[in-house]
Amino acid sequence: MGAAAAPIPHLTVITFLFLFPTIIRSHTPTISVKDFGAIGDGKHYDTFAIQSAIESCHTKPCYVTFPTGTYLTATIYLKSNVILDIPKDTTILGGTKLEDYPKESHKWYVILAENASNVGITGGGVVDGQGSEFVVKFDQRKNVMVSWNQTGACSGDECRPRLVGFLDSTNVRVWNVTFTQPAYWCLHIVRCQNTSIHDVSIYGDFNTPNNDGIDIEDSNNTVITRCHIDTGDDAICPKTYTGPLYNLTATNSWIRTKSSAIKLGSASWFEFKNLVFDNITIVDSHRGLGFQIRDGVILCRRCKRCSEGGLLRNLRFININLTYRRWTNYKGGLIDYRPGCQGLVNHSVAGIIMEHIDGLEVENVNMKWIDGRTAQWNNPLDFRPSTVNNISLLNFRSGFNRSGFDTQ
Ligand SMILES: *[C@@H]1O[C@H](CO)[C@@H](O)[C@H](O)[C@H]1NC(C)=O
Ligand SMILES: *[C@@H]1O[C@H](CO)[C@@H](O)[C@H](O)[C@H]1NC(C)=O
Ligand SMILES: *[C@@H]1O[C@H](CO)[C@@H](O)[C@H](O)[C@H]1NC(C)=O
Ligand SMILES: *[C@@H]1O[C@H](CO)[C@@H](O)[C@H](O)[C@H]1NC(C)=O
Ligand SMILES: *[C@@H]1O[C@H](CO)[C@@H](O)[C@H](O)[C@H]1NC(C)=O
Ligand SMILES: *[C@@H]1O[C@H](CO)[C@@H](O)[C@H](O)[C@H]1NC(C)=O
Ligand SMILES: *[C@@H]1O[C@H](CO)[C@@H](O)[C@H](O)[C@H]1NC(C)=O
Ligand SMILES: *[C@@H]1O[C@H](CO)[C@@H](O)[C@H](O)[C@H]1NC(C)=O
Ligand SMILES: *[C@@H]1O[C@H](CO)[C@@H](O)[C@H](O)[C@H]1NC(C)=O
Ligand SMILES: *[C@@H]1O[C@H](CO)[C@@H](O)[C@H](O)[C@H]1NC(C)=O
Ligand SMILES: *[C@@H]1O[C@H](CO)[C@@H](O)[C@H](O)[C@H]1NC(C)=O
Repeated sequence: MGAAAAPIPHLTVITFLFLFPTIIRSHTPTISVKDFGAIGDGKHYDTFAIQSAIESCHTKPCYVTFPTGTYLTATIYLKSNVILDIPKDTTILGGTKLEDYPKESHKWYVILAENASNVGITGGGVVDGQGSEFVVKFDQRKNVMVSWNQTGACSGDECRPRLVGFLDSTNVRVWNVTFTQPAYWCLHIVRCQNTSIHDVSIYGDFNTPNNDGIDIEDSNNTVITRCHIDTGDDAICPKTYTGPLYNLTATNSWIRTKSSAIKLGSASWFEFKNLVFDNITIVDSHRGLGFQIRDGVILCRRCKRCSEGGLLRNLRFININLTYRRWTNYKGGLIDYRPGCQGLVNHSVAGIIMEHIDGLEVENVNMKWIDGRTAQWNNPLDFRPSTVNNISLLNFRSGFNRSGFDTQ
């Protein structure tokens, strides 16, 4: 089956590039957590030693490093001009107790940078959220998770710590590091300016709810490249919760997810502008690409805020291969569960779901469907015509492949 080009002239979007002031490693002081008494046996908390090392970075910029080991810790607060340097064969292990995290639930991260500039994480090592310790009952469909909602700090069933957060920060760089087993979202960039995320591997649990890969919220000038994301929920999820999002590029990356590979528009009320996704291989996605202002336009009790959602403007999706493995057990194959506001809605779930878009270019996008249990799912595009404008499709293919699983 094929879906072909629209008669709209092919227009270009300014591709933006920006460079970060490169910190020359050899001229940068390195401070070891060992000198502050860290043990690194994975059993004793090393929180105080790690935090002391960070606070002691007086000559800036500064690398805080770790001898090989496993460092159990409560929340670590990164400060301006500090790069956390976690070497190969070394793991930062997030605590699993409520008292390991600050009082305010919006600061529940294993590693948190707030109001910081020139901060980052690198080294080739691992940050591990011990997500499986938060599972109450393992379930192939959806694990039942611990909820820290008894404290009043958080309500509902999504009360678990995220793994790494940069809030209100500038010049953020996360590279050459592995993030694994987040209990909830993995890497969260909130109200940041100038963020570079490259050569990062993310491993979530396929059956854990809300195991998002990278959530970019209300942030400008973000580059994601050469990342490997293998997780249970949305892999790259830009959001506009308290403000707009401009200039995001994601390139040269690999994604496997039980939910959307790229999801624009959950919990979003403001504009998205200038987003480029180029050379992304999406393997085994159950929801594919979703361009929807999903929560913003629907009146609902849970979301509390009700207004016209923001628009998605100037999006480019180029050179993307997607493989879908998706079906429904609902009758008729037309009902999609949309968490958040709406519950079950009658909606034919498609390869690309589009709502509230002005300016979208799709070029060299190849969708492959590998599960034929319900033919209704072989539907490349679903859009609400009254809400989309200026869409261009070039070399956009959707094909059905019953004969096997392609794990390219
Ligand atoms: C987005 O990128 C463009 C082109 O590089 C730049 O002119 C503009 O200032 C950026 N927008 C923001 C909000 O940083
Ligand atoms: C970050 O800045 C905000 C607003 O200026 C302030 O309310 C908050 O206390 C600051 N947080 C930290 C950790 O500095
Ligand atoms: C990643 O870190 C390791 C050290 O743990 C180093 O050998 C390697 O060169 C780094 N790779 C990149 C791309 O920086
Ligand atoms: C707390 O979380 C549990 C488990 O997810 C959920 O069943 C319950 O409804 C939540 N309670 C409140 C008050 O949010
Ligand atoms: C991003 O840019 C927009 C437009 O200039 C601005 O309104 C918004 O405050 C910026 N966001 C941040 C986090 O700086
Ligand atoms: C973001 O990067 C651009 C280009 O390097 C620079 O002009 C701008 O000042 C940076 N913004 C902040 C807030 O540091
Ligand atoms: C596309 O991305 C892959 C990594 O996923 C990389 O190996 C390849 O070189 C990239 N291709 C181009 C043309 O940049
Ligand atoms: C998509 O598949 C084609 C054909 O197999 C291949 O040439 C191309 O490199 C792939 N691109 C990506 C981004 O996976
Ligand atoms: C249509 O969308 C393209 C690409 O997003 C954009 O560059 C162009 O300005 C838009 N054209 C109109 C007439 O809005
Ligand atoms: C959804 O579709 C079913 C079956 O066609 C119908 O019975 C139901 O009323 C519809 N629900 C809504 C909310 O439209
Ligand atoms: C269907 O999948 C099989 C097994 O991965 C593969 O060999 C074959 O080339 C695919 N066919 C098409 C048309 O993509």
